[in-house]
Amino acid sequence: MLLLFPLLLFSNVYYNVVPMATASSKIESQGRALLQWKATLQTQHLLNSWTFETSPCNWTGITCRYLLLHPHLWATTITRIQLGEMGLDGKLETLNFSALPSLRVLNLTANNLHGSIPAAISALSKLISLDLSHNNQISGSIPSSLANLTRLERLHLNGNNLSGTIPREISRLSNLQSLSLSQNFFIGPIPSVFGNLTKLNFLYLSGNNLGGSIPVEIHNLVNLKEFDIVYNNYITGPIPASVGNLTKLNSLGLAGNQISGLIPNELGKLVNPKELYINQNNINGHIPPSLGNLTNLEMLYLWGNYITGSIPHEVENLVNLKELFISLNQVTGSIPHGIGNLTKLEIFNLWGNGSHLSVR
Ligand SMILES: *[C@@H]1O[C@H](CO)[C@@H](O)[C@H](O)[C@H]1NC(C)=O
Ligand SMILES: *[C@@H]1O[C@H](CO)[C@@H](O)[C@H](O)[C@H]1NC(C)=O
Ligand SMILES: *[C@@H]1O[C@H](CO)[C@@H](O)[C@H](O)[C@H]1NC(C)=O
Ligand SMILES: *[C@@H]1O[C@H](CO)[C@@H](O)[C@H](O)[C@H]1NC(C)=O
Ligand SMILES: *[C@@H]1O[C@H](CO)[C@@H](O)[C@H](O)[C@H]1NC(C)=O
Ligand SMILES: *[C@@H]1O[C@H](CO)[C@@H](O)[C@H](O)[C@H]1NC(C)=O
Ligand SMILES: *[C@@H]1O[C@H](CO)[C@@H](O)[C@H](O)[C@H]1NC(C)=O
Ligand SMILES: *[C@@H]1O[C@H](CO)[C@@H](O)[C@H](O)[C@H]1NC(C)=O
Ligand SMILES: *[C@@H]1O[C@H](CO)[C@@H](O)[C@H](O)[C@H]1NC(C)=O
Ligand SMILES: *[C@@H]1O[C@H](CO)[C@@H](O)[C@H](O)[C@H]1NC(C)=O
Repeated sequence: MLLLFPLLLFSNVYYNVVPMATASSKIESQGRALLQWKATLQTQHLLNSWTFETSPCNWTGITCRYLLLHPHLWATTITRIQLGEMGLDGKLETLNFSALPSLRVLNLTANNLHGSIPAAISALSKLISLDLSHNNQISGSIPSSLANLTRLERLHLNGNNLSGTIPREISRLSNLQSLSLSQNFFIGPIPSVFGNLTKLNFLYLSGNNLGGSIPVEIHNLVNLKEFDIVYNNYITGPIPASVGNLTKLNSLGLAGNQISGLIPNELGKLVNPKELYINQNNINGHIPPSLGNLTNLEMLYLWGNYITGSIPHEVENLVNLKELFISLNQVTGSIPHGIGNLTKLEIFNLWGNGSHLSVR
């Protein structure tokens, strides 16, 4: 396939500037790489604005940066490709990543992309945000070369057909703030080197086949706001007491695993949590009175465990509680009177107390 760009149009008419040949040929090769990729898509009509005649900077989903080098010399380069929810059908393998060295954002969420994540993606060395989520069919494993994209702050690969283990090398992405690998087929443990990702705010690993225990190194993730590993089925071991160090935690989702041991007292050191989902595990022991410290708590799901003892009266302090599920445990004693004072409480479920049923 021969793709030629009219250099003149690019340099003068469309840019209203007078770039030197080097500056214009850069954007030209970037545009050429994108048109070559477009030609491999099954849905080319969705990118009608992508033509030889217009500047790539004017194409749907493309953002450029114009850098004034000298009074009459602009360097133009593509910095963002945002083509979410477009219905694009094709593969990533046919995109020449080497031609896009200045790309900051690549967002292809909610399309119909298939095939694998090519190792060559590591050529996008300036990338800050990569979103390939909800394509359903992106397959294969995470290439370890992805760990070379050390500027990444957001990596969203959730909702695909990805498999294999989570590469340990991911710990090199020390600028990550948001990592979502949920709803895939990942196996193996959560690498303990995750403790290196100290800037993480959001860590979503739910709906995989992950096993092993929650690494104690999690206490390094002092910026974590949401941690979700629900419905992996194979996470074992206890809730590490060091979870109590995650003072910014808003939401902790551990439901639907095989987590055992006690609910750590140290959870009471947290102030912020609005949501605790510990249901459908193998937790035993009592409900620690320290949970009464979590006065911002709105959702407390403890159902489907082996919890014994009585409901501590400190639960009365949870003035923001909306949903309290303690059903399918083995709690005894009476319901604390003060629960009636929790004016925001919409659902209080004790159903099936005493008759532990496995829901797995
Ligand atoms: C982009 O399109 C607008 C009109 O929609 C036009 O005025 C402008 O010159 C174009 N810019 C480039 C860089 O092609
Ligand atoms: C990707 O784009 C979608 C809109 O299509 C947006 O909702 C989402 O937040 C973007 N992803 C990232 C990581 O910014
Ligand atoms: C990819 O782009 C680079 C840089 O523009 C270029 O040197 C290389 O030949 C391209 N590769 C292919 C297969 O087109
Ligand atoms: C999903 O991945 C598996 C192997 O990892 C493969 O056998 C299967 O064909 C993939 N499904 C789709 C729809 O790509
Ligand atoms: C990743 O980076 C390392 C060191 O910077 C380099 O040796 C390696 O070739 C890179 N791998 C890929 C696939 O880009
Ligand atoms: C942890 O992150 C630092 C950068 O903050 C990096 O130099 C180091 O290699 C990382 N360690 C591991 C085990 O990945
Ligand atoms: C985290 O919590 C554990 C157990 O509560 C404690 O021993 C440890 O000193 C804490 N670490 C940090 C870094 O705060
Ligand atoms: C939390 O609650 C427990 C028992 O109700 C109490 O002893 C403790 O001082 C409270 N505060 C912290 C930070 O754990
Ligand atoms: C739970 O069930 C046991 C046994 O049926 C009963 O003794 C106990 O009072 C119940 N606890 C609550 C809080 O309803
Ligand atoms: C519930 O509220 C009533 C009236 O506001 C108060 O008298 C009572 O002490 C409260 N009960 C508990 C257990 O906090």
